[in-house]
Amino acid sequence: MNQVLEQWERAAQAYAAGQEQNKNARDNMAVVQRRFPAMPGCAVLDAGCGYGVFTDYFRRIGADVIGCDGSPAMLRQARARYPEGAFEQVDLQQSLPYADERFDLVFCNQVLMDLPEIESLFDEFARVLKTGGRLFCAIVHPAAYPGEWLEDEHGVKIARMLRSYAREYQIQHDFCGGTTHFHRPISYYCNLAAQSGLCLIGMEEPCAADDTDNISGMPLFLYAEWRKLGAAEAE
Ligand SMILES: C[S@@+](CC[C@H](N)C(=O)[O-])C[C@H]1O[C@@H](n2cnc3c(N)ncnc32)[C@H](O)[C@@H]1O
Repeated sequence: MNQVLEQWERAAQAYAAGQEQNKNARDNMAVVQRRFPAMPGCAVLDAGCGYGVFTDYFRRIGADVIGCDGSPAMLRQARARYPEGAFEQVDLQQSLPYADERFDLVFCNQVLMDLPEIESLFDEFARVLKTGGRLFCAIVHPAAYPGEWLEDEHGVKIARMLRSYAREYQIQHDFCGGTTHFHRPISYYCNLAAQSGLCLIGMEEPCAADDTDNISGMPLFLYAEWRKLGAAEAE
């Protein structure tokens, strides 16, 4: 088990309990409910399912969904909360144990910024998607990283200067007892998706609902959705 997964292993209980109380998590769910109101009979992979809340949502809207995660402790949380769910232990840093073109939707919520390496994962997501199938990813917005607020002459916070945006870097958070994030600029994700034959359908960068850092107008999460192109379209 890699170091990041060991952190999630320790964080599982606190994460599950905390998310159930968290307004940002509820807003995240609202975005998903709006984008995916019903999926009868659709094959869905919830990649990095955590304590299973989205796996359960897709099951309830009619999908044939598998939730997979690399942390046994997180999977125990999921199985205890959602006994009707199908949960499997899968390391997203390895090849996925699923057949080509199996899924209509690969759903990956708040996971990519937790992974040290995502190049091959995008290829794997594209491989297991049906042609025309969709990849949905939510991440902590790459602009929601340490920076200093610029203030106008009245002390009003007007913009945040990130300490670093364009390059990739790793940062330790106190979140849930200590987790690691891998910052990458938006272009990094978009280029990976394009190289994997995925076409962008849409992005959302809603502002933080709870005035994170006491400022409105800054996004906390980034939501992106891609469609897998057919071989002819991808050329
Ligand atoms: C922030 S949580 C998100 C969980 C869930 N998707 C949600 O939205 O509540 C990140 C999840 O990624 C999982 N994860 C981290 N590294 C992983 C890896 N290499 N393979 C599989 N899962 C991993 C963690 O165990 C954790 O459940």
